[in-house]
Amino acid sequence: MKIAVAGKGGVGKTFISGTLARLFARDGYSVLAVDADPNINLSSTLGIERSVAERIVPLSENEPLIASRTGVPPGGSYGLVFRLTPKVDDIVDKYGVVGPDGVRLLVMGTVKGGGTGCMCPANALLRVLLQHLLIQRREIVILDMVAGLEHLGRGTARRVDAMLSVVEPRMKSVETARRILTLARDIEIPEVLAVGNKIEGEKQRAFVRERMEELGIPVVAYIPYDPAVAEADMLGVSPLDYDGSSPAIKAVAELKEELKRRYAL
Ligand SMILES: Nc1ncnc2c1ncn2[C@@H]1O[C@H](COP(=O)(O)OP(=O)(O)OP(=O)(O)O)[C@@H](O)[C@H]1O
Ligand SMILES: [Mg+2]
Repeated sequence: MKIAVAGKGGVGKTFISGTLARLFARDGYSVLAVDADPNINLSSTLGIERSVAERIVPLSENEPLIASRTGVPPGGSYGLVFRLTPKVDDIVDKYGVVGPDGVRLLVMGTVKGGGTGCMCPANALLRVLLQHLLIQRREIVILDMVAGLEHLGRGTARRVDAMLSVVEPRMKSVETARRILTLARDIEIPEVLAVGNKIEGEKQRAFVRERMEELGIPVVAYIPYDPAVAEADMLGVSPLDYDGSSPAIKAVAELKEELKRRYAL
């Protein structure tokens, strides 16, 4: 099962990705969480210790790795010929960090000018790596995306089973969901599912339900606004460790069950 989580900035992509990853892992699945966000905050949501997280170098910034795999020395010009099929199958084991519940985290970092056809060495490496993660790896892979879908090219995107589009009960967030839907169809992601987040009350729930109905996106979970999640963030701890039975965590657990049903996991 390969899941990409997308949505407008600050809607809760990282909270949902990280919590979902740990809950699947607690059910005995082997889970790889991929951070494609420049703020690298998935580690704290996953409950990885700060001292460990601080030492992680995003792959996009790992110049010796990029150089050795693509054949282009650091600072080498784009004009140089580089390997289009660098070796990537050992990267998860070498650079992944294992956190609580056994979730493995891989911090990719961002690709500059990605999707626009920039074929700099870092891009080439990440693109091939992503293909490998989506096609060859057998575990549940959860991609915490930046607002857009810059890492996913056509072809690779087809291997994403579902894109979770996280929406807050705000018009701007709905607009982003609409753009994500268009983009997802364009790159042929098989299914887009909406997850309502930070929902307070029936009116907000109805707002998300109606707007998503208009777009034709099924809503698979409504996650309430939960002060415990915000408090965990302020303390820099994982919401799951802060209060594992808070309402938002319970809603993410229901989302996990819904995904299991839909995909017969
Ligand atoms: N259900 C919720 N209830 C309360 N606070 C929440 C909830 N979900 C997320 N938050 C808070 O909202 C903020 C943004 O969440 P998060 O970092 O997960 O969003 P994001 O979409 O990954 O943001 P970015 O686009 O910056 O990567 C955080 O402070 C988080 O703790
Ligand atoms: Mg995030």
